[in-house]
Amino acid sequence: RHGLAAQLFGREIFYRDSVPSTNDLAKEMARRGAGEGAVVVAEEQTAGKGRLGRGWHTPRYKGLCFSLILYPPVVPSEAAQVTMLAAVAVASAIRDVAGVPAGIKWPNDILVNSKKICGILTELSAEMDKINYLVTGIGINVNQDLDDFPGELRSVATSVKIEAGRAMPRLKLLQACLAEFEKWYAVWLGQGFSPVLARWKEMSVSLHCPVRISTLKECWDGWAEDVDQDGALLLRLSDGSLKRLVSGEVTLRLG
Ligand code: BTN
Repeated sequence: RHGLAAQLFGREIFYRDSVPSTNDLAKEMARRGAGEGAVVVAEEQTAGKGRLGRGWHTPRYKGLCFSLILYPPVVPSEAAQVTMLAAVAVASAIRDVAGVPAGIKWPNDILVNSKKICGILTELSAEMDKINYLVTGIGINVNQDLDDFPGELRSVATSVKIEAGRAMPRLKLLQACLAEFEKWYAVWLGQGFSPVLARWKEMSVSLHCPVRISTLKECWDGWAEDVDQDGALLLRLSDGSLKRLVSGEVTLRLG
């Protein structure tokens, strides 16, 4: 065995040296019948994908990128709950293992000291309002130094090594992430989304503060008042009205 504390998550592991994207390989493995909690992990991604059509850079041996295959018994509109659960799990793992103050920025970025240390991308296949499979991809900046990041990211990105002041074995972090993920997934299946959402709110660094939200077309300034059951952000605008924003379409900047 591989020393994983998790029971179900990581029971099946697909390890690769280099892949275009662990999410893409995970979707293929799901179509081929991989079990619940199967994990795809790679040393590097050559075409890692981020949210909103952006890319994600995972340099060889320095970044941790993995994707979890799940078959959650919910309708597709509730899939955002799994992503929020993933954010809680990964932020907890980073806090525990690295001892750095990881927080969650809506919808599901993990920040340390206002800089991004981890991104999460969930993709799913569904038909007739039923999820066939769901893949949650997690990219954590672990042992990057500042000059490993492309110039334009140096002011907005960070890594566990930069924040903790020492390198961290990526396996240790992966183990902690899988154990936390499994724990929170069981809470979610057993008790529903409320306890997950409550913890998400506690770990959030983008609630109850002024924020700027932008889509391709529009931009709103407001007060981040709350997050609802679907993971949508409720933004209080200056005219007093409440605007509901769905994570899929917008990015948030902390004010
Ligand atoms: C974002 O913040 O925009 C999301 C980044 C998600 C990156 C991870 S790395 C593992 C998985 N495979 C991918 O191609 N993307 C996700």
